[in-house]
Amino acid sequence: MKPIKVGLIGLGTVGTGTYQVLKRNQEDIRRRAGRGIDIAMVAVRAPERARGIVDEGCRIVTDWTEVVDSPDIDIVVELIGGIETAREIAMRAIAKGKHVVTANKALLATHGNEIFGAAQEHDVMVAFEAAVAGGIPIIKALREGLTANRIQSIAGIINGTTNFILSEMRDKGLDFATVLRQAQELGYAEADPTFDIEGVDAAHKATIMAAIAFGIPMQFERAYVEGISSLKAVDIRYAEQLGYRIKLLGIARRALVNGEEGIELRVHPTLIPNKRLIANVEGAMNAVMVRGDAVGESLYYGKGAGAEPTASSVIADLVDVTRLATADPESRVPHLAFQPNQLTNVPILPMAEITTSYYLRVYVKNRLGVMADLTRILADARISIDAVLQKEPAENATRLDIVLLTHQTQEKKMDAAIALIEALETVVGPVTRIRLESLN
Ligand code: NDP
Ligand code: HSE
Repeated sequence: MKPIKVGLIGLGTVGTGTYQVLKRNQEDIRRRAGRGIDIAMVAVRAPERARGIVDEGCRIVTDWTEVVDSPDIDIVVELIGGIETAREIAMRAIAKGKHVVTANKALLATHGNEIFGAAQEHDVMVAFEAAVAGGIPIIKALREGLTANRIQSIAGIINGTTNFILSEMRDKGLDFATVLRQAQELGYAEADPTFDIEGVDAAHKATIMAAIAFGIPMQFERAYVEGISSLKAVDIRYAEQLGYRIKLLGIARRALVNGEEGIELRVHPTLIPNKRLIANVEGAMNAVMVRGDAVGESLYYGKGAGAEPTASSVIADLVDVTRLATADPESRVPHLAFQPNQLTNVPILPMAEITTSYYLRVYVKNRLGVMADLTRILADARISIDAVLQKEPAENATRLDIVLLTHQTQEKKMDAAIALIEALETVVGPVTRIRLESLN
């Protein structure tokens, strides 16, 4: 059988990794796919650099429309990142009847509904394993391996850059800017690293997983997003003393509010008991914990970013598309796991309705009765305290930190309690609130 022809748009970290791994392992990949996979064209902005990467037989162009419009190309691989041009590439390729492979979570979380709709209409596949958790085949696991289950929750460390930053700051005492620079040099960070730091990239990934797990449309705009930029070293230290690690966690979970089903979709720094496996995921590694009614808890761990780990997922998609290209469209695996006419409208819950536990750090004046005020406010709100950490104040210290861990409560109750605490005359500045998940 003739090789399937691929047009690759973008030869940066992931594009270069994809070209190189495909070339290195081409014989095994051909045997697995049933035919060769040939990158026949690449579209780049810097052709001189590309000449040093691709073989002579591969055509280099500087206008991506040449790839998408070429009648010789069967699969378009979009690896440029960003949203607008990437959307044009995907929509035009689909309209031309070409399959699309992408690692672009920003694109899918914001325009996935439109793109999958168009793909359905034109009987083509859009594959995106690399868009979530880099080299971990989590999309395949959720969409196929766990298909028997009613998925109850997903909790994951799904941004390599922020996990790398948190680990390096804690272990090596390096400062934020230095570690971020390292993450950029290692090719982990997004072109705009604020997407990593502010939790947006993790929210894109959580949105995609929620759609697949629960059979709902992509709803990135309804996700709660909080990054690590305001996280303080002191909170990481206190959390350690209490037996917890702080991780940026992406959470998608079924919940019942007043008897109605909803879905929690949120990304924020989270305390996790340090004895949980996921609390010990370090550096650019990712891990996704999935709970299904039949399988129970399962954990998927691996490299979440970088050239070759991500290439591993891009190429897995190329092989899948190659294998399925000739199958009747109705027999293919649906893009979002559920048949397109079977998506439900279970709502994403507002953050005020979610339920979790909390770490609170309150900076207070060193006065008699401060602790009693805090515990009274929490007791009145029916929020029960799990642990308290109060350092013996240094002699003559006028202010000190009080750290409280609470049992589960609703976010809106905690909002109200924090407002009352912040109004106390003895409390200095805002309360630091970090959510805590025991993940039991
Ligand atoms: P890079 O910035 O390293 O690479 C993007 C490449 O695309 C650059 O070489 C850029 O050229 C090129 N490019 C941009 N616009 C065009 C265009 N119009 N035509 C042709 N080429 C263009 O990004 P990554 O490889 O890191 O990321 C690619 C995608 O993969 C993103 O969607 C990202 O979110 C995703 N991803 C990345 C991972 C990683 O670890 N890096 C992991 C998982 C997913 P120039 O150099 O001139 O700017
Ligand atoms: N910037 C992303 C991360 C790349 O750090 O996880 C992988 O999606």
